[in-house]
Amino acid sequence: MIHISAPAKINLGLEVIRRRDDGYHDINTLFAAIDICDEIRIQLRDDREIICTVDGDEGLQNEPIENNLCVRAVREARKYLGEERGLTIDLRKHIPTGAGLGGGSSDAAAVLKGALSLWDKDIDPNALLQIALSLGSDVPFFLHRGVAHGSSRGEILQPVEIELPYYCLVVNPGIHIPTPWAYREVNRTKEREESDLVAHIWEGLHDPLSMRRHLVNDFEPPVFAAYPEIGEIKERLYHHGALFALMSGSGSTLFGLFETRERAEKAQEGFEEYWSKVVRFV
Ligand code: C5P
Repeated sequence: MIHISAPAKINLGLEVIRRRDDGYHDINTLFAAIDICDEIRIQLRDDREIICTVDGDEGLQNEPIENNLCVRAVREARKYLGEERGLTIDLRKHIPTGAGLGGGSSDAAAVLKGALSLWDKDIDPNALLQIALSLGSDVPFFLHRGVAHGSSRGEILQPVEIELPYYCLVVNPGIHIPTPWAYREVNRTKEREESDLVAHIWEGLHDPLSMRRHLVNDFEPPVFAAYPEIGEIKERLYHHGALFALMSGSGSTLFGLFETRERAEKAQEGFEEYWSKVVRFV
């Protein structure tokens, strides 16, 4: 049996560059793992069953288990490896789902790695990447974690060896934003210019306010227009002293960066009506 912690992520900048012929979009983003973690326990079984239990998230508990990304991850890995042994997966959710924090993707990546280790199987890194990508655009990032620049659908990843000295206040208003809808609303008919996000995040280390000028999330305008409450959270993060605030992924979670835990926790008091947490980068 193995225990794995599956961390969430935020996007420190997310640009939707162009629409592709395969229905996806090329993006330019910086992923950063944060220490809100789902807990996963995986055990080998004597039979071929894949059993998955979910705890801590009613919405997910009510969904058909065969749709769960963890179960799909095991099926895809077994198919590729010709492996038949079953697994029992116990998933305890702490990351809000459908929130732009990559919870389901992180669980899937963790289960892929855990299953390989229990089966004692190696897999070619490129094959693993392709399986991860077939499960979702954010899954490849969670095979590596840390801070990484992502391009293409998010699967071309360059690690960024940066230690972000900030405390991150994450606020989730519980509004579900369907990702395909958000991409459609960005309405990228013409290609967009790409910023040098890696340069901007390094600059942000000694000049945090520069992040406000350079790091954007292209999903904010359509999401804030449709749900003004989400845009107000961003304004309130600044009002409560955030050095930098942004929406993560296609929302609806926002985050603010603060210099000290005390400042982040003080700001958190202003968001009592929402789910919120002060976290560090991992
Ligand atoms: O890859 P994932 O399952 O997260 O994508 C969900 C949907 O979001 C896709 O079907 C597509 O409509 C949209 N998407 C996109 N470009 C990306 C990622 C997602 O258009 N890079």
